[in-house]
Amino acid sequence: MRTKLIAGNWKMHGSKSFIESLMKGITEQLNAAMESDVLVCPPTIYIPLVKNLIGDTAIAVGAQDLSEQEQGAYTGEISGDMLKDNGCQYVIVGHSERRSLYGETDILVAHKTGKAIEHGLTPILCVGETLEQRENGTTMQVVEQQLDAVIDTLGIDAFAKIVIAYEPVWAIGTGVTASPEQAQEVHSAIRAHLREKNAQVAESIKILYGGSMKAANAEELLAQPDIDGGLIGGASLKADEFIAICNIAG
Ligand code: PGA
Repeated sequence: MRTKLIAGNWKMHGSKSFIESLMKGITEQLNAAMESDVLVCPPTIYIPLVKNLIGDTAIAVGAQDLSEQEQGAYTGEISGDMLKDNGCQYVIVGHSERRSLYGETDILVAHKTGKAIEHGLTPILCVGETLEQRENGTTMQVVEQQLDAVIDTLGIDAFAKIVIAYEPVWAIGTGVTASPEQAQEVHSAIRAHLREKNAQVAESIKILYGGSMKAANAEELLAQPDIDGGLIGGASLKADEFIAICNIAG
């Protein structure tokens, strides 16, 4: 049985006071008995603040990106070591915004994924197609290419330490969510692709859905057999919404 993971991706939102009140809302309402794992990924500079605000809850903290380099003259970059040193357990890699706005290639994403694992961080490897690619019928080709770059670079066994997030680009921040059937179809195809290389890894890996997930659609999405949680953007910035999704995950 795979446990679910509900992850908030705050992107470049927040301030000290906003985060204090968001974390107050989340920590006060979180059901301590829930079985799913809960994660928040603040902007990097607020990670220590969020660590302080977590109190005795089991909320994990993650970053939204890391450098593929170990250390050195890389102005503006943050290393896996630094994230670990500040209490991060997870890091998002290859989010579609990084791929499309900052030119991150499949191979760079594979190196970042490897760096995260090296530092004991769980990478949340994002994959997904654009609207054009979906309409062209190349969704699985695109997703498999994104996965294969990581498989070829790190080997299939590395996926035992990876969480995948399937995020159709056309559903991110648009309010248009993939239907549960559309999402399940891709999730199951991702698992089948991994199964060809390693059945055990395919069965145990968590595959999150991301793209306009909110309390109103979480139930149907999370009920799909191959959807093991959510990577939530907009709705993770509202404590009540985020908690409602956590409660649905159970
Ligand atoms: P969204 O973002 O929930 O606002 O669509 C999801 C994501 O980009 O991870």
